[in-house]
Amino acid sequence: MTEPARPAVMSTAGLGLRIRGVTIVDDVSIDVNEGEFLVIIGPNGAGKTTLFNLLSGVTRPSSGRVTFRGTDITTAPPYVRARLGLGRTFQTSTIFAELTTLENARLAAQAYLGGSGRLWVLADDQQDAIERARGALASVGLEARAATKAASLSHGEKRKLDLAILLCGDPTVVLLDEPTAGIAVEDVPEMMTLIRSIHRDQHKTVLMVEHRMDLIMGLADRMAVMHHGQLLAIDTPERIVANEIVQSAYLGDPL
Ligand SMILES: Nc1ncnc2c1ncn2[C@@H]1O[C@H](COP(=O)(O)OP(=O)(O)OP(=O)(O)O)[C@@H](O)[C@H]1O
Ligand SMILES: [Mg+2]
Repeated sequence: MTEPARPAVMSTAGLGLRIRGVTIVDDVSIDVNEGEFLVIIGPNGAGKTTLFNLLSGVTRPSSGRVTFRGTDITTAPPYVRARLGLGRTFQTSTIFAELTTLENARLAAQAYLGGSGRLWVLADDQQDAIERARGALASVGLEARAATKAASLSHGEKRKLDLAILLCGDPTVVLLDEPTAGIAVEDVPEMMTLIRSIHRDQHKTVLMVEHRMDLIMGLADRMAVMHHGQLLAIDTPERIVANEIVQSAYLGDPL
C-alpha cells in the first residue's frame, strides 16, 4: 500500500467507548494525513458520529488516545480542540432559527475572536466579528441571505450556514457529519462543490461522513469503513469498493 508522504495531522490509537457494558467504538486507530480528504462510511449505528464526538471532545473515550498536531487531546474539551484548529459540524443543523443568517455567523466569529458571546455588544466590538462573519457567508454563497432569519432558509442553505459557522473558527481540520443530510437532491451537487472548495482552495483537511458512494468517488483520497464500532478498512476508494470484507459488512447491499 502506498502511503502519502505527508505527516499525520490527527491520530487515534486504540480509541474505544463503552457505555453501560456496550461497546460503541472499538479499538479504532487512524492516522489522518495533512491535507487529505477522508470519507467515513458505514451502516447506521456503526459508530461514525460517536467517533466524531470522540475526536471533537463532545465525548470522552473509555480507552485509547487522540493526538492533534502532536498534542495529546484525549481529555481536552471541545473549545480547546477548536482553538488548536479542529472544527466540526453536526449531523443535525445547530443554528439558532430565530436569529438571522449573519447573527448566527457573527456569534461564531465572536467566539473565535474571543469577544463577548452576547448578541448585543458595543458597535465597535462587533465590527471585526461582522467582517469575519460576512467573509464566511460569502465563501459559502450566503451573503445575499445575511439579513434573513435562519428559520426561513432552505435545508440546503441551513447546511451552508453550518459550514459558514465552522469556517468562522478558522479550522485547519474539519469534521463534517453527513453535510448533505436533509438537502433536496437538486441542491446536493452545489454542496459537494462547496466542500470540495473548502478542501482544495481553503486547504482544509477534511473528514466527512457520507453514505452516498456516487458523491464520494472522485472526492475522497481515502475511505474508512466502520462497522459495529470497529474500523473495518481504510484505503483508496477504488480498493474499498473492491474489498470483500467491506462488501460482506453491508450484507450484500451494493456500496
Ligand atoms: N450516549 C449513548 N448511549 C448509548 N448508546 C449510544 C450513545 N451514543 C450512541 N449510542 C449508540 O451507539 C451506536 C453508534 O451510534 P452512532 O450515532 O455513532 O452511529 P452512526 O454510525 O453515526 O449512525 P448513523 O449512520 O445512523 O448516523 C448506536 O447503536 C447508538 O444507538
Ligand atoms: Mg451518525
